[in-house]
Amino acid sequence: MKRRIGILTSGGDCPGLNATIRGVAKACYEKFGNDGIEIVGINDGFSGLINNQCKEMEPSDFSGILTTGGTIFGTKRTPFKMMKVIEDDNVNKVKAMKETYKKQKLDCLFTLGGNGTHKTANLLSEEGLNVIGLPKTIDNDIWGTSVTFGFHTSVDIATDVIDRLHTTANSHGRILVVEIMGNKAGWLTLYSGVAGGADMIVIPEIPFDINKLSDACAKRADSGKAFSILAVAEGAFDVEEANLKKKERAKKRADSGEKTATARIASAIEANTGIETRVCVPGHMLRGGSPSAYDRVLATQFGCRAAELLFEEKFGYTVAMVEEKITENKLADIAGKTKFVTPDDQMVVAARRIGVSFGD
Ligand code: F6P
Repeated sequence: MKRRIGILTSGGDCPGLNATIRGVAKACYEKFGNDGIEIVGINDGFSGLINNQCKEMEPSDFSGILTTGGTIFGTKRTPFKMMKVIEDDNVNKVKAMKETYKKQKLDCLFTLGGNGTHKTANLLSEEGLNVIGLPKTIDNDIWGTSVTFGFHTSVDIATDVIDRLHTTANSHGRILVVEIMGNKAGWLTLYSGVAGGADMIVIPEIPFDINKLSDACAKRADSGKAFSILAVAEGAFDVEEANLKKKERAKKRADSGEKTATARIASAIEANTGIETRVCVPGHMLRGGSPSAYDRVLATQFGCRAAELLFEEKFGYTVAMVEEKITENKLADIAGKTKFVTPDDQMVVAARRIGVSFGD
């Protein structure tokens, strides 16, 4: 029996998407032979599935992509909350995705993505499609897996940024505030902050007190270290903002003219300490380029396990790493849940032990 599978990548890209796609594809060709499986690449995530933008792939399409950044299929953000909403184009998205699956005669759909992608994957699974998920995101915030592919490459890049800021901050006796991606979860900031030896780590899960951050910088200056490095997650907020609703928070920020956490923190610290303070925003560089060796290995393992789920006809699952072992979770058990940093996380505890301030 010839099998036919679809693969899509959805949400923000990250290093390791192509390595994961390659893992799925190569494991399938090995198992069924080049003539025993047809692979359909779906362009631009769920948008491609809605609009039947698909391409028949050849085995050679999956060669030479282990090391490449981005995604060979392209990706797009198609918010889960809009999936059941009929917009101006009058398209019933869920119906359209099911129709494409049928039209393309797919036996299974592989979805590579983060939290939003997993919610839509679960929806499609509930709608009767055979779906297998793969956990991607530099944010590392997918429930039920200790790690997602893309995370460690991004930690490496952010660490390199912090290393470079150290030498320039030290030379000038400045405070440098680096903005690390992560709107809801602070894993990337926490890990790169520890790896880069940041003096302060500021994450959304631990609202900060600006006076405590300023005092920590001043204390370092008093002890002879004029420079300080703050690793700040883009979604960080202070103790006052923690009590505000999302809209109130946005208004407060717009009124102050300083929309980003790093801008607010930098200007307040400079005013409080009198030490020149600068902001660095590496932004999407944190998601670009080649995956690290760790992520290539993880992506290959995840891709192979996802292919095995197909061999076992075990659908409605997403692969995961649990206690150092590659395994899987039911989509229904993890969709809609976010894995946040907890205050008692071992990395938070270790950082505090070596004197890192979280500004709380
Ligand atoms: O989800 C990954 C992520 O990089 C987040 O860390 C960040 O908040 C967001 O995507 C940025 O989104 P975009 O690429 O759409 O600007």
